Amino acid sequence: MKNVLVTGGAGFIGSNFVRYALKHRADWKLHVLDLLTYAGNLENLADLIQAGQIQFIKADIADQPQIDAIFAQQRFDLTFHFAAESHVDRSILSATEFVRTNVLGTQVLLNALQAHTPKQRFVHVSTDEVYGSLGPTGRFLETTPLDPTSPYSASKAASDLMVLAAVKTHGLNAVVTRCTNNYGPYQFPEKFIPLFITNALEDLALPLYGDGMNVRSWLHVDDHAAALLAVGDRGRAGEVYNIGGAEESEIPNLIVAQQILKALKKPESLIKRVADRPAHDRRYAIDYTKINQELGWSPRIAFAQGLESTIRWFLDNKGWWRNIKTGEYLKYYERNYQGR
Ligand code: NAD
Ligand code: DAU
Repeated sequence: MKNVLVTGGAGFIGSNFVRYALKHRADWKLHVLDLLTYAGNLENLADLIQAGQIQFIKADIADQPQIDAIFAQQRFDLTFHFAAESHVDRSILSATEFVRTNVLGTQVLLNALQAHTPKQRFVHVSTDEVYGSLGPTGRFLETTPLDPTSPYSASKAASDLMVLAAVKTHGLNAVVTRCTNNYGPYQFPEKFIPLFITNALEDLALPLYGDGMNVRSWLHVDDHAAALLAVGDRGRAGEVYNIGGAEESEIPNLIVAQQILKALKKPESLIKRVADRPAHDRRYAIDYTKINQELGWSPRIAFAQGLESTIRWFLDNKGWWRNIKTGEYLKYYERNYQGR
């Protein structure tokens, strides 16, 4: 049995990863460590916790004594590090928490790893946003210079460099992944796709930034999970692996908004043009040749099919996102787990 730590496992990608890993790795015991910030929601994992399939630890990755105590008590054979402040617009309003969690929090984990289990694999889950913005052509390669434009992406770039430096300096067994935009079940409805789906379902305006022609490369969260398993198993320490959507999933925001409205049979008049995000990256696109050639990974879920199943999930789980929109979800941990 392998003890596997998943930081940020109560968030969107982390919780989907936990479900995916449970299906694909029978010999793993999963330990989810999460602070349950506004973005963490134990309802995402409730059935798994209740069934005893995973262990939950409420902790702050930026708290060195707390993290050290956890690493001293439990030896982790493998760590997937998702915990982060993840929303660009929030980082524009206030950057401090992004530095604390994304940079300091990552360093705290590296310190704990070095002190307790320096040979164990650490997968640092990062983002294509560290490369900055593309013009109409080209794709990000692992060798593309870092050029982050938001406090969020700058904090992720800083954390990537700390991880790579720890491999060189201390010989840690860490790998960095940089993925494009994810979508799927349990995505917090401040992000573009779930915000637009849930607003459309409530006949609320869909706030489209700028001219709506910014392009994102969409990847279903299960495809991301599959890539992370491959990197965890066979990625080379000190390497960066880009993970991304196929060319057909590189789509301007306006078109995605129209696809969502069409699927829900809602009028396009719900789209409301609003002021653009400052320093709004124009286009992301990933070259995933390296992970494809080295580890055999490629995206499997076509965007049209993934968007349809995601919309169906939001239709079938209205209670989940309504609890978030009303703030009720924030009481879930207190009611069900505190004091256990
Ligand atoms: P999310 O915001 O949904 O989840 C983040 C989780 O981290 C939450 O559960 C939150 O409670 C937890 N967390 C925050 N601060 C913490 C702290 N100090 N200690 C412990 N836990 C803490 O984010 P997500 O969209 O699931 O993204 C997960 C990771 O993947 C992030 O590192 C992000 O940068 C990266 N990423 C995201 C995307 C995307 O499209 N969402 C794409 C590429 C990479
Ligand atoms: O590329 C990977 C990144 O993707 C991750 O690292 C981030 O954690 C994740 O949040 C995401 O960043 P984006 O800024 O691309 O995602 P977001 O959902 O915020 O926005 C997607 C696009 O939609 C972007 O061009 C901005 C636009 N948008 C977003 C919102 C929230 C709108 O037009 N209106 C909105 O209300």
